[in-house]
Amino acid sequence: MSEHPSSGGRPLLPGQIASWLRLVCFAAAALIVTGYVYLSVRKAPNAEAERRQAQKALRADNAKKGLALITEPGRNADGTYRIPVKEAAALIAADNKVVAKLQAAAAPAPAAAPAAPAAAGAFVKASDEQMKRGAAVYARTCIACHQPTGKGLPPVFPSISETPIVVGNPELPIKFILQGLMGPITVGGTTYNSMMPPVAGVNDQDIADVLTYVRQSFGNKGNPVSVDQVKAVRAATAGRTAPWTTAELGLK
Ligand code: HEC
Repeated sequence: MSEHPSSGGRPLLPGQIASWLRLVCFAAAALIVTGYVYLSVRKAPNAEAERRQAQKALRADNAKKGLALITEPGRNADGTYRIPVKEAAALIAADNKVVAKLQAAAAPAPAAAPAAPAAAGAFVKASDEQMKRGAAVYARTCIACHQPTGKGLPPVFPSISETPIVVGNPELPIKFILQGLMGPITVGGTTYNSMMPPVAGVNDQDIADVLTYVRQSFGNKGNPVSVDQVKAVRAATAGRTAPWTTAELGLK
């Protein structure tokens, strides 16, 4: 028994100590690098959460403002709505979810829409080309307020689906487009006391096309509008810049 088995008790050699140390250092460095990478990657979801939070706050604020528009300060003494179109349009452009909330809150419970008057004479179907051009003008100039469905956003923007003015004498909507319209006006049981601003960036052809499109979409059945009809109204109203009022046009 002169020689012990060389298991546990044998001292480490300096070379081995050095390689152990190297291993420990390497492990520590790896840990630091991994930790650093982990933390910097974790920042991204944090930023995303913050952005969501900010968006949520903004949405809540918009909803609050929107509710104010359609409730107390937004109402006239007689209970009709007075809504700054610009602000309402800005809200809509900003956020569809807010709009959905406003619609739910407003719940106008409209009466049955008045029946459209029978068009005089036979119905003339517009050409596919004119409908296509009209749809493009609609998407550019009316859609934000009167919506893709034509049903508007009661109680902020009235429907132009199966409403009498839309399929009636085209002189009226031509005037609204050229100079704008100020309420009060009752559409589908809801009274709007607001303003449709004059529509910018449309020529006579665009106006004829968009009104033809509107008069033959959304359940409407009105005859096409010609460029000559638009020209005549533009000439007759030349120099006028003030919006038309419903009172002056005999509308209610
Ligand atoms: C900025 C929003 C806005 C835009 C854009 C707009 N409208 Fe209007 N429109 C309104 C408002 C608001 C009223 C009601 C005005 C009032 O209170 O007197 C209205 C009223 C009308 C009416 C009469 C009421 C009815 O519902 O029948 C017609 C027709 C109409 N708009 C057609 C159009 C057409 C066509 C376009 C595009 C060329 C257009 N509007 C673009 C906001 C808008």
